[in-house]
Amino acid sequence: MKKVSLTGIKPTGSLHIGNYFGAIKPALALAAEYDARYFIADYHALNTMKDPAELNARIREVAAGWLASGLDPERVIFYRQSSIPEVFELTAMLMAFTSKGLMNRAHAYKAAVQENAARGEDPDAGVNMGLFTYPVLMAADIILFDSDMVPVGKDQVQHIEMAQDIARSVNANYRQPVLKIPQAAVRENAAVVPGLDGRKMSKSYGNVIPLFAPERELRRLLMRIVTNSQGVDEPKDPDTSQIFLLYKLFASPEEQAALAARYRSGGMGWGEAKEELFRVVNRELAPPRERFQAIIADPAALDRILAAGAEKARPIAAATVKRFRKAAGID
Ligand code: ADP
Ligand code: TRP
Repeated sequence: MKKVSLTGIKPTGSLHIGNYFGAIKPALALAAEYDARYFIADYHALNTMKDPAELNARIREVAAGWLASGLDPERVIFYRQSSIPEVFELTAMLMAFTSKGLMNRAHAYKAAVQENAARGEDPDAGVNMGLFTYPVLMAADIILFDSDMVPVGKDQVQHIEMAQDIARSVNANYRQPVLKIPQAAVRENAAVVPGLDGRKMSKSYGNVIPLFAPERELRRLLMRIVTNSQGVDEPKDPDTSQIFLLYKLFASPEEQAALAARYRSGGMGWGEAKEELFRVVNRELAPPRERFQAIIADPAALDRILAAGAEKARPIAAATVKRFRKAAGID
């Protein structure tokens, strides 16, 4: 049997190149040799997105983004998390095997508590149970489809380790391999794609390069990257340059070597380095940007693709829940 690759993206904003290199590209590469199941994590998004029109639009936007990036719905099972009720059945069962202490240690929850403390507020202010139990729902997403590999950026690794812990508790309790233990697949060169300000690129930091920004907007954003005050003639260190870090994601090894040499020899100003960055970024993103516009313009077709994916996903999901219920004595 082929191994299974699975990943999800929350529809909480426009896709950016961190999502593209950290999750989408590695996932599409894995789809060539794995049975791939990729989905829109819309119930995860509900934790923070309470405006229905906005959430609905973002769901389609992320779905169109996957398709524009090359996902073939004939080969990949592609669906919305919310179309698979078994996710929630499994979540309830996994809750019984998840210690509260494990959730207390989750990075996102801990960060919220620390921010509250810094502001002198109640530790749990603004924390809903969806945020607190986020890793259990994510474990269910993964475990439900007997996933072997989960392509994600580094920030998600803790969640996958939690899914492993939870699945292991289940298997240990029933003394049989009821649930598959998943592994994170993190690409070393894109584990943390830096944003325009040098921190991790993230919707929450407002430092993103959107994947499908119009060409002019893309150029404007890249020209805004903060640089140091070194003059045109000064030799520059490519390895500490924000511009070069981004360049490496888009350029061939030959292009990288050539540009690194120009940085080191001096004579190239930051403006020129940014122009060269824009050239390679636009070269890669222009074709998917055009496809994205065409796909997003036909929401009915998009919805049909997602519905067909859910049809394919549900029997797989049902089999896992059935296996677990049987092991648990609830059949
Ligand atoms: P954001 O941090 O912008 O909210 P998400 O949490 O929706 O992004 O991430 C969706 C996927 O993209 C996850 O697999 C995540 O690890 C990956 N990802 C997000 N930002 C980056 C980044 N800067 N570098 C690498 N991968 C990233
Ligand atoms: N938590 C992931 C994120 O913020 C999204 C996600 C939900 C996910 N369920 C998943 C990723 C299952 C991989 C597998 O990006």
